[in-house]
Amino acid sequence: MSALHDWWLPLSAADDPGTGRCRPARHFETALVLWRATEGPAVFDDRCPHRGASLSLGRVHDDRLECPYHGWRFAHDGRCVEVPAVPGFQPPSGHGARTWQVIERHGLLWAAGASASDAEPFAPPALAGLPKTRVLCGPFDVATSAPRVVENFLDTAHFGFVHEGFLGARDHVEVPAYEVAHDALGRPGVPHYRAWQPRAASASAGGAWVDYRYQVLSPLSALLHKQAGADGPDEAYVLWTSPTGRESCRAWFTIATADPHADAGVLRSFQQTIFAQDQPVLESQRPRELPLSGGEVHSAADRFSAAYRRWLRDIGFSYGCC
Ligand code: FES
Ligand SMILES: [Fe+2]
Repeated sequence: MSALHDWWLPLSAADDPGTGRCRPARHFETALVLWRATEGPAVFDDRCPHRGASLSLGRVHDDRLECPYHGWRFAHDGRCVEVPAVPGFQPPSGHGARTWQVIERHGLLWAAGASASDAEPFAPPALAGLPKTRVLCGPFDVATSAPRVVENFLDTAHFGFVHEGFLGARDHVEVPAYEVAHDALGRPGVPHYRAWQPRAASASAGGAWVDYRYQVLSPLSALLHKQAGADGPDEAYVLWTSPTGRESCRAWFTIATADPHADAGVLRSFQQTIFAQDQPVLESQRPRELPLSGGEVHSAADRFSAAYRRWLRDIGFSYGCC
């Protein structure tokens, strides 16, 4: 497994921060500053090369990021262009900030180390064949590992308990037999899963049998595509997680819908309600890291999460796992 800085991780919504602003971000355990000049967003180590102050405490002025301590100014490409205490001094390249690559994908800004490529499995995962209207929901800061959050997204046996009245019901808690399949990249998924939902989607008023398709997209993201009954519009949920430590992460959901009348506010508030039900249970799980080598027991209903764990082990992804 390659070094962590080769992974592309989402840091923020694509429009955050706005032009002329900066803010702190994290890529695994590396503190970063994310800021936006007229040319677009830029990501640096959140550490001034002069005396190590946090650049995210500074300000953006005239398309330069200015350090809060002695006011050194950095251009979009990381070059130090001004040392105010020494007028006329031309800073050499060694005075520059350490830069990261940044791209926009799926309504989010993603960053990776300067030498990272955008090849699988490190690149932002592609989304194919989903409804065109997209709504981003989040961020959610969660006090547990990213793989715990991904596994929870793949787990249907909790619906009747954690999401009673929304995604599940106590009189429909049985998990029907389902098959796990692996795609061309080896990622586990469940092509067909049928579930009863008392309120299947943000737009539904009543219960319905729902056809699900699950696909793990990367160690840190997964897709749920649902067709809510014969007349219901196609709806998909994509979970993106971004580790901020071994036992903490930030998460977003992309909601994709074919409903031409979908209201972004309603979609967001439904997803916030659902995740507010998940979060306390998720944060209560011990250990916070996802056990890949025993320590927890499985039932037949857990074969998808067991396949996710096995796949993480096979590809050697161990961050946030124990
Ligand atoms: S620490 Fe940044 S300018 Fe001195
Ligand atoms: Fe849940």
